[in-house]
Amino acid sequence: MIITIDGPAGVGKGTIAKIISKSLGFKYLDSGAMYRALALFAELNGVTEKDSDKLKKILIDLHIQFIDSKDGERVLINTDDVTEDIRTNEISTLASKFAANNFVRTILREMQRRLVKNKDYIAEGRDMGTYVFPDAKYKFYLDADLAIRAKRRAGQLKEILGIAINEDRVAKEISDRDNLDMTRESCPLHPADDAVIINTTDMSIDDVVKKIESVINGA
Ligand code: C5P
Repeated sequence: MIITIDGPAGVGKGTIAKIISKSLGFKYLDSGAMYRALALFAELNGVTEKDSDKLKKILIDLHIQFIDSKDGERVLINTDDVTEDIRTNEISTLASKFAANNFVRTILREMQRRLVKNKDYIAEGRDMGTYVFPDAKYKFYLDADLAIRAKRRAGQLKEILGIAINEDRVAKEISDRDNLDMTRESCPLHPADDAVIINTTDMSIDDVVKKIESVINGA
């Protein structure tokens, strides 16, 4: 069974998806990490999002893997662990630029569908319920005010990267990224027609988890 959680940057999709996947015994697909890994790989190869011909060539050699470890899930590009490297603000912005490229989306969509085939997954991202898994059993779209999302994202970055991040800078970065993600031609971010939309601005993580679980349990 596939359950999708989509929404803008910093809304807490990842945190919520991880909790729900544990409680249901499902696996968790962090599709954003795939866009981030691809952007980092392209950057390391000196290829920009506009150069589709070169992109096509280098992507043949891109293998993204998610490996469970005692410190949580690790993201690998081929054999290199890039878990922390893909979380910087620079890679966030770059990922969004590559994500607007239709060829990139086609490649990653296929990888995502292959990964979850015949398994139980919580798939989290921007287009999971709309374009990648339109037949998902349950679909959720999380939203929240920009200031709250910037606060949540800054806290998260501090935890992952161990450095203090200016909230205003994060707010600008995520609002630019949302704009690009919502207005691109290829699979823009929007709620699926059949998604349950949850505004989490005034909700705790626990509240959101309970709300999602109540929908899944038909309560
Ligand atoms: O979720 P995360 O912030 O890691 O995603 C990074 C970027 O990857 C997003 O801003 C978006 O441009 C892109 N993305 C996407 N479709 C997805 C997941 C992420 O376009 N399903």
